Amino acid sequence: MTATETPILEFLDNHPAAGDFHADVLAGLAARPKRLAPKYFYDKVGSELFDRITELPEYYPTRTEIGILEAAAGEIAELCGPKPLLLEYGSGSSRKIRILLEALAGRDARYVAIDISKQHLLESVAALAEEFPAVAVYAVCADYSKPYPLPPSALEGAGRRVAFFPGSTIGNFSPSEAVGFLCNTAQTIGPGGSLLIGVDLDKDARILDAAYDDAAGVTAAFNLNLLRRINRELDADFDLGAFEHKAFYNRPAGRVEMHLASLRDQQVRVGEAVFGFAAGETIHTENSHKFTLEGFQRLAEQAGFRPVRVWTDPDGLFSLHWLDVR
Ligand code: AVJ
Repeated sequence: MTATETPILEFLDNHPAAGDFHADVLAGLAARPKRLAPKYFYDKVGSELFDRITELPEYYPTRTEIGILEAAAGEIAELCGPKPLLLEYGSGSSRKIRILLEALAGRDARYVAIDISKQHLLESVAALAEEFPAVAVYAVCADYSKPYPLPPSALEGAGRRVAFFPGSTIGNFSPSEAVGFLCNTAQTIGPGGSLLIGVDLDKDARILDAAYDDAAGVTAAFNLNLLRRINRELDADFDLGAFEHKAFYNRPAGRVEMHLASLRDQQVRVGEAVFGFAAGETIHTENSHKFTLEGFQRLAEQAGFRPVRVWTDPDGLFSLHWLDVR
């Protein structure tokens, strides 16, 4: 795809090399306990399954955050000021950015979508660019947990840089990784920049357990799809029927954990390597940290941000923070 065929002004392809996935899988399966990074969930099928998760009755974060954004959109537009440059991390399904771009009408906004899933990124961003002809739209395919380049033409003459990181994806990082990520973000957006970030809140374990182990089994399919992806892309022979999805709130650690548990003693081949699994042994595939309002603000302060405004829903399930770079 080129810029002349689509309304996207510029596409920067910084997609991680396929070799990274291979090396990470081998290292993760050799580790004790075994682990795989959640950023690898999002191949085409995984991104589609995640979109289905966001519509599940048990999965409250997406609809709750959308409600908060709708209520706060006017105030957010004021905070953005003229000619804002919005950088969205993990542009997944662009429902949320639409709310912001609508509220920013007439402000000459620019939008840079950053996502690891190339196909998903290009499809969602092309649709968005058509819908918002007045917005200059850019796409960057990158693993944003590492430093990545921004299109220089997007930065030129722009007003406030506002990083938008919705969905509580920050919860995938450990607290120290989260501080590191927030430090990088502060550096990317620079002095005078801001971060608008969605953060899931600590709550009753029953609500959390249900949100990550839904009755329809979509989250289980999402988790198991990681093994299917490894089979397909790395010439592996995981038997998907021999692993089961496990999700539970680990309160002392402040996070929901997802695992894939081996249903029997077995050996799995990945390319030339072979890994043994004992019955009940798990691969830890995701952490989803939950925060208190003050706990998250303290974390952001450690990374050089000043908390300016926070919005929540009436039930206190989810939060949206506006932070300025100090
Ligand atoms: C996209 C990381 C925010 O942690 O809630 C949803 C991913 N995993 N169900 C989350 C996820 C299982 C989601 N994030």
